[in-house]
Amino acid sequence: PITDQGPLPTLSEGDKKAIRESWPQIYQNFEQTGLVVLLEFLQKNPGAQQSFPKFSATKCNLEQDNEVKWQASRIINAVNHTIGLMDKEAAMKQYLKELSAKHSSEFQVDPKLFKELSAIFVSTIRGKAAYEKLFSIICTLLRSSY
Ligand code: HEM
Repeated sequence: PITDQGPLPTLSEGDKKAIRESWPQIYQNFEQTGLVVLLEFLQKNPGAQQSFPKFSATKCNLEQDNEVKWQASRIINAVNHTIGLMDKEAAMKQYLKELSAKHSSEFQVDPKLFKELSAIFVSTIRGKAAYEKLFSIICTLLRSSY
């Protein structure tokens, strides 16, 4: 399960290896994967769309909306960046804490939603335990400035 509160999980060397070996395949299709995840998230959490005034108002053409595509890419690129910092824990924490500050003060996102999006992400990429830990770290740190 993905956690978003409490002690920060630690990635073992084995977890990092599992992520490093599988991520390139997933990231290869980052635009498509990111879009599938974001669309499912918006479908399951209709209220979340209010946070994105740039998205078109009608649900039927969301997958063709360039703003949706751009946002989907930003999310998966942030995950990619986090993976790149797995061996630099201090830098990884700082990066995600800064992202947390933006989500809380600038974007005013409901912090419960990080876990919702992450769960869809992990199931979309059929991520195993190592990815659950990675997303638990992401969710916990994205909540840190709330
Ligand atoms: C913006 C990543 C979850 C709402 C962003 C940005 C990144 C990002 C990189 C761009 C920040 C910038 O402008 O510098 C992530 C990651 C998430 C996540 C990695 C979780 C894994 C969520 C969730 C919501 C959300 C669950 C809920 C609605 C927003 C909004 C913006 C934003 C509203 C600003 C959009 C705009 O430019 O108008 N996010 N995000 N994010 N995120 Fe997230």
